[in-house]
Amino acid sequence: MSILIFDSGIGGLSILRELRLSLPQARLVYVADDAGFPYGDWEEGALTTRVLSLFDRLIPTHRPDLCVIACNTATTIAIDALRQCFPATPFVGTVPAIKPAAERTASGLFSILATPGTVNRTYTQDLIARFATECDVNLVGAPDLAMLAERYLRGAPVDDDILRAQIAPSFIERNGKRTDIIVLGCTHYPFLANRMRKLAPWPVDWLDPAEAIAHHARTVMAVKRLLSDTEPDLAFFTSGNPDPVIASLVRSFGLSPQMDDGFIPSA
Ligand code: DGL
Repeated sequence: MSILIFDSGIGGLSILRELRLSLPQARLVYVADDAGFPYGDWEEGALTTRVLSLFDRLIPTHRPDLCVIACNTATTIAIDALRQCFPATPFVGTVPAIKPAAERTASGLFSILATPGTVNRTYTQDLIARFATECDVNLVGAPDLAMLAERYLRGAPVDDDILRAQIAPSFIERNGKRTDIIVLGCTHYPFLANRMRKLAPWPVDWLDPAEAIAHHARTVMAVKRLLSDTEPDLAFFTSGNPDPVIASLVRSFGLSPQMDDGFIPSA
């Protein structure tokens, strides 16, 4: 089984490392559209056309069982079109973790730090309208943060003051509340999380969706029965008849309970 992971650059590696843990048996193919990087400022129509034309080549070349769009900027503009154009291939996208942030915020005020493209998308606005109407959501389009992350990953120096200026608008105080969560709405940003944590004017939770996306990818693979080329892990009960609660418990441990009474020894 193979998974194609796509990003504009090397940010998607933050998703890939979690996919490796979730799906160790999968063959991973990573595609970085570095010729098109950064995606943050692309005009929507042109970006959709570019992503679709890349997948026109990628799908027949690599024949992936699943594609993970490890890029918020591309997902929020092109995931629907990708699903329409390639109906036989399942797609998992990456979008800002607005629902988890809305569930976890204690102050009721959180920020979404993302590329200018992602913060302007209708897709992002719709997520806020669906999941965070009770919250005060501060949208921050960081013009250079993805670029700084690429630079950092290449071992080049990244100046503290420049980094501080990129994250500063995410920290706000209004109506007696202050930001307590920053949603990392670009897959490049987790690579700068330690640096950003040090430069933060006060401590916040930095929400990285990578683990949840890898978990979702695993679920999609399981539902589509794409995990079947590895042998399932089995659980046997000598009664041949575990009660449904126990059957479901062992399933949650990744085991497939076998309803077979061949174990009962004859008296
Ligand atoms: N890594 C991408 C994202 O998650 C975008 C970086 C860029 O190309 O600007 O949005």
